[in-house]
Amino acid sequence: MRLQVFLSNSGIASRRSAGATIRSGKVSVNGRVVLSPAFQVCAGKDRVFFNSRRILPRKKIYIMLNKPGGVTTTKKDPFARKTVMELLPDNLSHLNPVGRLDRDTRGLLLFSNDGEFINRFTHPSFNVEKTYALRLDRRLAHRDRRALEKGIYLEGRATAGCSIVIKEKNGLEITIHEGRKRQIKKMFAKSGYRVTELKRLRQGHVHLGALPEGKWRFLTKKEIDDAAGSDIK
Ligand code: URA
Repeated sequence: MRLQVFLSNSGIASRRSAGATIRSGKVSVNGRVVLSPAFQVCAGKDRVFFNSRRILPRKKIYIMLNKPGGVTTTKKDPFARKTVMELLPDNLSHLNPVGRLDRDTRGLLLFSNDGEFINRFTHPSFNVEKTYALRLDRRLAHRDRRALEKGIYLEGRATAGCSIVIKEKNGLEITIHEGRKRQIKKMFAKSGYRVTELKRLRQGHVHLGALPEGKWRFLTKKEIDDAAGSDIK
């Protein structure tokens, strides 16, 4: 990984300030000062020092939060509104959210300091499935359901196929494997419906389960292993 990323993962500096720290000549790798933030280091092998102090790679951490409505998915909200980071203890403030949920959307939000893990969940090429429970302002007509499942045009591009399971009157579950911004609300708005409640239940192999709203927990080893496998679904 880039030396800059190694330093920020280790908690020495933020991603932004790590570049300046390196250029100032305070960082050495295997006994030689390195001035380039892009210098490649191997976290388990290379010996990185900052001001003559050995820097060890930080443990990789994976957690899930059951996000309540009314909190912003960001590290810092420019309008000083409540952020998801405020629901985590201070010693987890270096983690990054894996993708984002709208302010009013609730449910499963993963966090990690493992860039590869985050990429696997968020990069379109991995096609990770996501299931959401939602409520509409009225009952979904059969023909609209069929059209949505096949794919509709959204901002000039067709959505990929998805599956919809009707749960009760206006409630349903939808499974998509794309992650376009505000995709679910836009898909239903385009079809003439308003989403009145939205909650993410699953991302890949990771299910929200019975975690209470506003609470977080570490992922199990199995959840991490399955998520990192090549068959993310
Ligand atoms: N789709 C949306 O419209 N909003 C979300 O928060 C997540 C998916």
